[in-house]
Amino acid sequence: MIADEIRRLKEERNAVVLAHNYQVPAVQDVADFVGDSLELAIRAKETDADVIVLCGVDFMAETAQILNPTKTVLLPAREATCPLAQALTPDMIREVRAGHPGAAVVVYVNSTAECKAEADITCTSANAVDVVRSLDEDVVFVGPDANLASYVRGQVPEKTVLPLPADGHCPVHLRFTLADVEAGRARGDAVVCHPECSPEVQAASDLVASTGGMVRQAHLHPQWTVLTEEAMTYRLGRVFPDAAFHAIEGTECADMKMTTVEDVLVALKAGKHRVAVDETVAAGARRAIERMIALKR
Ligand code: 13P
Ligand code: SF4
Repeated sequence: MIADEIRRLKEERNAVVLAHNYQVPAVQDVADFVGDSLELAIRAKETDADVIVLCGVDFMAETAQILNPTKTVLLPAREATCPLAQALTPDMIREVRAGHPGAAVVVYVNSTAECKAEADITCTSANAVDVVRSLDEDVVFVGPDANLASYVRGQVPEKTVLPLPADGHCPVHLRFTLADVEAGRARGDAVVCHPECSPEVQAASDLVASTGGMVRQAHLHPQWTVLTEEAMTYRLGRVFPDAAFHAIEGTECADMKMTTVEDVLVALKAGKHRVAVDETVAAGARRAIERMIALKR
């Protein structure tokens, strides 16, 4: 069986398989750990394994590689990327710095390593509010996701929180509407949405949370409408088998769906596909990511 072969190869190679909460069920089932972007980065930093197989999209594998320059990090689906990450460029950050010398720049981990290297600190959706509150600066730019920046602005009114001029959006989370919130309510569900959803959907939902935050807070209600990538309901159902989780059809992230369990096997067998980040860029990005991880959680 493929799961047995994966288990055998993991031992032989001293490898660990880390999977994002949006991965297909068969990949989640063979993973040693399933979590959100922050949890994956922390696991990658803490592991004793020689090989990290990161089942997710490229920025997640790059983050693992940046934190582990001497280890082998593999991305099983080489083409899996995050379109949101492409919205921000290093030049945009340099322009913001030139125009606002006293401001801080917080870069969402859904970004390129080059942009992370220009940041004061990175954030994920799980810790964006804590990251911004931790800063000494009163003016803070957040991006590339404009909806996450809007969420943080609402949670940290004591600071001036502005979006980086990327105007980035996740194409998956843009699909959720107020009608989805209302349909969930009509069914008797509590509604949780990801901070990448529009400000209107955030305001109408009962809870706004990262994917890891959803796992931590799902015990609060027996049935939920889950406004994020649809595989999240599989993840939540595994942790809370007695609760009901409803996804919205047609909300797959095509990039997250690229990784199959066969790709995980090939990754372990053939060392595919090795992630490489230029060391000068990696050094700058590492400083910003490690500053984030060092924040008290
Ligand atoms: P999380 O960090 O909440 O898992 O989000 C990652 C992501 O890509 C959301 O679309
Ligand atoms: Fe990127 Fe959106 Fe896919 Fe997350 S769901 S990886 S933000 S495209």
